[in-house]
Amino acid sequence: MILGISGSPRPNGISANAIKYILSKCEGETKYISLAGKHIGGCISCLGCTKDNECIVNDDFQEIANLMVQADAIVFGIPNYYDIPNALSHSLLERCFCFRHQGAFLLKDKAAVIFSTGYSSDEANSQVLKITDYFLKMNNMKVISKFLLGAYSQCYTCKYGLTCEDGNVVKNHGFVDKICPSILPPKFEQQPESLLKCENAAQLLNQIQA
Ligand SMILES: Cc1cc2nc3c(=O)[nH]c(=O)nc-3n(C[C@H](O)[C@H](O)[C@H](O)COP(=O)(O)O)c2cc1C
Repeated sequence: MILGISGSPRPNGISANAIKYILSKCEGETKYISLAGKHIGGCISCLGCTKDNECIVNDDFQEIANLMVQADAIVFGIPNYYDIPNALSHSLLERCFCFRHQGAFLLKDKAAVIFSTGYSSDEANSQVLKITDYFLKMNNMKVISKFLLGAYSQCYTCKYGLTCEDGNVVKNHGFVDKICPSILPPKFEQQPESLLKCENAAQLLNQIQA
């Protein structure tokens, strides 16, 4: 089973759509999980997991933990907030501490695809990709692909974008009368390069399943 996890608090955003698109191109069983609306706190370092590699904190992490262990491969869609993984995703990754005690490494050798969504396009220096990669390698997972996907800045829909001097609309286009479609960043399905990256990732996952 290939598990796709959208780390965005927005249930229908680019991370969610991209995860669903990758899963739609995967052969065999897939499962989709969105962290939107989920309550997942960070690791509280209680060490309750060291005995049997099960986190004893009772929140929405439990159901996801079980799926992560069952999965043959996992796709992580992680929004870029302030150039690091958003808090929900970060909490999930931190909680994976529970899998790695006494040589167990319950996620060991599982293939992982990581993508990060954001308006930044500097893939080689993406801290989100680097940080997520580090978390997964600490769990002895095999990261087979990592890439960025374009997402819009909140300034385009916050209602004050046209006049806010500190926002990305004015920064990118100057003072314009309205946010017309030609300056609106493209949706996921209108980004041929992003679609291709997702298709390539699915192909790699299919090779592993074969
Ligand atoms: C609090 C906050 C901080 C953000 N910081 C950045 C940033 O530093 N760099 C960037 O490229 N995008 C940044 N963004 C834009 C998000 O990355 C983008 O909205 C998100 O990836 C969209 O994903 P979604 O559609 O799946 O929710 C930020 C968004 C929010 C809400």
